[in-house]
Amino acid sequence: MQEPSSSLINTAAELLRNGGLVAFPTETVYGLGANASDPVAVRRIFAAKGRPADHPLIVHLHSPENLDFWAKDMTASAWRLAEHFWPGPLTLILKRRNAPLTVTGGQETVGIRIPDHPVALALLKAFDGGIAAPSANRFGRVSPTRAKHVRAELGDRVDLILEGGPCRVGVESTILSLVNDQPRLLRPGSISLSALQQVLGTEIITSASVGDIRAPGLLKSHYTPETRFEVHPIHDLKRRRDELAGSGIRTAVMFIGAEHREQPENPALTPCFMPDTPAEYARKLYAVLRLLDRAEFGVLLAESPPDTEAWQAVNDRLKRASCR
Ligand code: TXA
Ligand code: MG
Repeated sequence: MQEPSSSLINTAAELLRNGGLVAFPTETVYGLGANASDPVAVRRIFAAKGRPADHPLIVHLHSPENLDFWAKDMTASAWRLAEHFWPGPLTLILKRRNAPLTVTGGQETVGIRIPDHPVALALLKAFDGGIAAPSANRFGRVSPTRAKHVRAELGDRVDLILEGGPCRVGVESTILSLVNDQPRLLRPGSISLSALQQVLGTEIITSASVGDIRAPGLLKSHYTPETRFEVHPIHDLKRRRDELAGSGIRTAVMFIGAEHREQPENPALTPCFMPDTPAEYARKLYAVLRLLDRAEFGVLLAESPPDTEAWQAVNDRLKRASCR
């Protein structure tokens, strides 16, 4: 993989200044970026993704210096989180100051994050402004973790795709809302609830009654492959596998670890073995789902991971991907 040269980064920044769309790598997933201060450019993001206009976008920055321009009322604890976790896979929902309503989906709050990826940071520095960017996939689909995923899904709808290799984290950022009295976890990610609570020193609400917050990451069905996808505990998984393969339905099974390498001989059956640590699993998940989704299986099955905090982000994505 060749990292973009500084002249390509400058070209990308110039494209953004001229209202273009630039896809770029972050440590979580690839983003589809536009100048956050240019509502016309931002509307192009919604069009390219087929995303409803009332779903807010995250504003990406390269330093917290200009945070006060985009958001207001940053509390001491918000600053503590920012200092501790940025650059990194944490999005803070704050009260809006100058972030355009096109970006915030008409809401008085704004999502901000400083990504931890050299290409994203180089682009943000060269552009020297906020870049509004959702994940670079069609609305409701699995997020891209490689440049080729963006090319396959959005191709000619983007002016430029910057290469940055496979994303290190692999699932989208943790989203924490700080606009109410008590902080609320809106989307689990690789930064865990307890890590956030430790830095904040206060409790975070998770069972969000999110009726008033428009966040597609919170829709029950999101991040979905096109193929039917089911997640089961190991015993049910094997039963379902045998049932499907027995009736000749082409079935892929995502096991966790190599423990279940012994598989019944059946031409309809394709086992695959996912990593047994949550970070490694998360890194691979979307790429594997994409691959299996294109391979014309009748059904995709996955073994459900343990119900522990370390697996929370993976469990969340598996649940949404299997929901229809
Ligand atoms: O890791 C990530 O967060 C990636 C990379 C590219 O930064 N971005 C990403 O963006 O996942 P997107 O748009 O696919 O998901 C962002 C989520 C959406 O569910 C959106 O509704 C929510 O953040 N969000 C953004 N601004 C918000 C706000 N003001 N209030 C509530 N939710 C917000
Ligand atoms: Mg997304």
